[in-house]
Amino acid sequence: MNRYHIQTTENLFGAGMKYPLLFSPLQIGPYQLRHRIVMAPLTRMRAAKPSLAPRPLNVEYYSQRATPGGLIIAEASPVIATGFGNPGVPGIYSDAQIDGWRQVVDAVHDKGGVIFLQLWHVGRVSHSSLQPGGALPVAPSAVPISAELKTMTADGKPAQYETPRALETGEIASVIEAYRQGARNALAAGFDGVEIHGANGYLIEQFLQSRTNLRTDQYGGSIENRARFLMEVTRAVIEIWGADRVGVRLSPYGIANDSGEADPMPLYTHVIKSLDPLGLAYLHFIEPRSSGAGRAEVNHQNVPSAMVLFRPIWSGKLITAGGFTGETAEAAIAAGHADAIAFGRIFISNPDLPRRLARGYQLTPYNRATFYGGEETGYTDYPEHDELEQA
Ligand SMILES: Cc1cc2nc3c(=O)[nH]c(=O)nc-3n(C[C@H](O)[C@H](O)[C@H](O)COP(=O)(O)O)c2cc1C
Repeated sequence: MNRYHIQTTENLFGAGMKYPLLFSPLQIGPYQLRHRIVMAPLTRMRAAKPSLAPRPLNVEYYSQRATPGGLIIAEASPVIATGFGNPGVPGIYSDAQIDGWRQVVDAVHDKGGVIFLQLWHVGRVSHSSLQPGGALPVAPSAVPISAELKTMTADGKPAQYETPRALETGEIASVIEAYRQGARNALAAGFDGVEIHGANGYLIEQFLQSRTNLRTDQYGGSIENRARFLMEVTRAVIEIWGADRVGVRLSPYGIANDSGEADPMPLYTHVIKSLDPLGLAYLHFIEPRSSGAGRAEVNHQNVPSAMVLFRPIWSGKLITAGGFTGETAEAAIAAGHADAIAFGRIFISNPDLPRRLARGYQLTPYNRATFYGGEETGYTDYPEHDELEQA
């Protein structure tokens, strides 16, 4: 019996092959995945305070969602104290955080899962109450988020976004160093790889896009210059991990956190063509029809599909996310638009999502009110299908 044969879904989930492609193996870097249902990175704001280290509750949550040969991309984790935009988000810059993450990684590995960590810096999507010394958030340029969008202070009060402080040219190298150190810390915690968060209007995307990058130095102006920060971060992280264990996430047509390039095509064509020769583990998109995050349900219609537009210029593995169901995920893979599909919101409310999709079980709806912050409610108390049957 060959290795492939052993790794069938039947073995994994004891089910008929409703979605044969979703449940076929996939090589991502050095890892042989046994199915293509990826857990998307999901900020849940439930780390220990004040250490901002993962705690036993977080270990249980990830362990519930781990499957043999299944890829989890753990939630965005700031690489430096200036990188936070929300309370209760776990970091990856202190010993306590590395130790906390190690418990999560060990639990996922115990179930045969593969786990990457998403490396984060929010840039201007923050508030001074969350910044060291109460300083202003940093960004490529002093461009505030639209006054129509509101944020929250460290103690949960609604607030206006402030005008961020533009990073000095001489400071940028130290932010790139923070990403390198975060990558090193993720390696120390035992992760299988890292994903660079270049999506959703956070620091890297603020550099990429012309509305948020008004710089006149080598990090601003031309598309090449605006892409420089992402490329330097990516190369620094590759130095720690090797390219085949590093992914990059982008949201070319996204509008989260007041982002959006007037004409994304030239910018993202350049970015993707620049990343392509590096030999990354994967490129990961958020389809623009839905960012999923935020406090309201948003579903944009008639917007271009990132995977359809950019697949032709990406020669590596491609993961995409955004409002997929079992059917549409299978269809995207069948059409050759993507290699794997990341699920966000329905992975929150269905800890056994791969098994439910394999068996065609009904999905439990998610409760948006418990996405961000709190304890086990809406986090570790969503039942597996079998528990529902017995209830
Ligand atoms: C509660 C919540 C938290 C999220 N946190 C992150 C995050 O930390 N990093 C990220 O890249 N995307 C984040 N997203 C976006 C998801 O990864 C995913 O792309 C999005 O939800 C669309 O997929 P879905 O339609 O399957 O939910 C978040 C989405 C939600 C709903």
